[in-house]
Amino acid sequence: MADSANFELSADEMRALGYRVIDMLVEHHCTLGQKSATTVKRRDELEALLREAPPSVGCSPQEVLTTVERDVLSSIMYCTHPRHFAWVPGPSNFVSVLADALASGVNVCPGTWLESSGPSQIELIATEWLVELCGLPPGAGGIFVSGGSIANLTGLVAARQMKLGASMQGAVIYSSDQAHSSNWKNIRILGFQPDQLRLIPVDEDLRLDVGALSKAVDEDRRAGKRPFCVIATAGTTNTGAVDPLDAIADLCDAQDLWLHVDGAYGAAAILTERGRAVLKGMERAHSLVLDPHKWLFQPFDIGCCLVRDVRWLEQSFSEHPEYLQDTRDKMDMSREVNFCDRGVQLTRAFRALKLWMSIKVYGLDKFRSAIDQGISNAEHAQRLLQEQSNFEIVTPARLGVVTFRFRPPDCPAHDLNQLTRLVFDGIVADGYALLTTTIIKGQTVLRLCTINPRTSDDDIRGTIEMIGRVGAQCYSTGTSTYE
Ligand SMILES: Cc1ncc(COP(=O)(O)O)c(C=O)c1O
Repeated sequence: MADSANFELSADEMRALGYRVIDMLVEHHCTLGQKSATTVKRRDELEALLREAPPSVGCSPQEVLTTVERDVLSSIMYCTHPRHFAWVPGPSNFVSVLADALASGVNVCPGTWLESSGPSQIELIATEWLVELCGLPPGAGGIFVSGGSIANLTGLVAARQMKLGASMQGAVIYSSDQAHSSNWKNIRILGFQPDQLRLIPVDEDLRLDVGALSKAVDEDRRAGKRPFCVIATAGTTNTGAVDPLDAIADLCDAQDLWLHVDGAYGAAAILTERGRAVLKGMERAHSLVLDPHKWLFQPFDIGCCLVRDVRWLEQSFSEHPEYLQDTRDKMDMSREVNFCDRGVQLTRAFRALKLWMSIKVYGLDKFRSAIDQGISNAEHAQRLLQEQSNFEIVTPARLGVVTFRFRPPDCPAHDLNQLTRLVFDGIVADGYALLTTTIIKGQTVLRLCTINPRTSDDDIRGTIEMIGRVGAQCYSTGTSTYE
């Protein structure tokens, strides 16, 4: 490597390194389905492989890439794997992967218009595409952030600013007990006390109980508190349930409450006919979160917060220090946008590029059918599970999520949670597919999230056969092979 005080590589060195990285990526994408869905190494194994003092003198990048490929990227859950059904998979697409390389390679920072007018224009267009797809009114707008958690934080900051102003005293915020924990974490980060969050119970279908919500708001008002915001979920992480958005929006209108809809998991389903039917009312949100790195098939990290009047974000986040004066003085701020005024970050990545490029290259119809496929995959899994006497469905397929248990007819109910944990360990040890467990109404269950359009019918069938096999072994031996 050239010996100088800067980091330059020769053009040939850059090309060689770049082509090697591309070759690694293409190889990875083309052989993914043949690999184990997950590999977890122990800390001591990884310490032995990777621990060293930071080298004073470097080595060839090819050598470093070999280590990365062999010892680092081999010890992960492959989130794009066709049989990765855990939590929410990240089934990214290759065009967006390269868009990320471009954004990073040029080192674009769309914090201000002055720095990045072209990229800021792309972010405006891409966020406004989402505004339109979600049915928010003209004047709505948003920002791309790192993911659903920070998108939820962005929406709640706007809710606090617009509804409470300077004082959080006595304020109350409501969500169901099935809301994503990032919302609860955000409420804590924002400085609310634990008793300022009220968890509302859910109905039989695990959707927020609007009657209970209405009662809680009335009670709090009578007690002199300040109800100000309801968090509704458009596709819960546990079961894909969608809260009754229209009824919640009616209550929020009547009670002058901010409606924050966390659609990090499910909102993208609005592109499909089946999704539109269950997400009705989502367009009435004051703030709405989508997570393109989930069901819009983008590589990590990109989340999105939209608000129905984009000035709310600017009123919540703008700061105008003297060292940024040129970013406003030299611009026509009635037309141009400094995205740093819409969120927490000043220096930020050009996340919009990947979503914009992939929608341009593939077209929205491809996204629609890919999302629809994810919904169908869970229904297919449910049908296969129902054909077998050793499985019981706990919650039916909803927006790409189905939960169930391995339950041999003679297995006593009180042993089921323990058996499910064993079956999970056995699944991890098997490696053919990866899914996770959760707890529904006190029961430990297995959960499949099937949003990856690479998943074939055979992948689903093979996965259920594998779980049946592993389940039978765990049940007969009382152990799993996973240590
Ligand atoms: C409903 C919901 N909200 C928020 C999040 C958090 O998103 P992220 O992990 O992108 O921060 C998730 C993640 O699964 C989610 O399912």
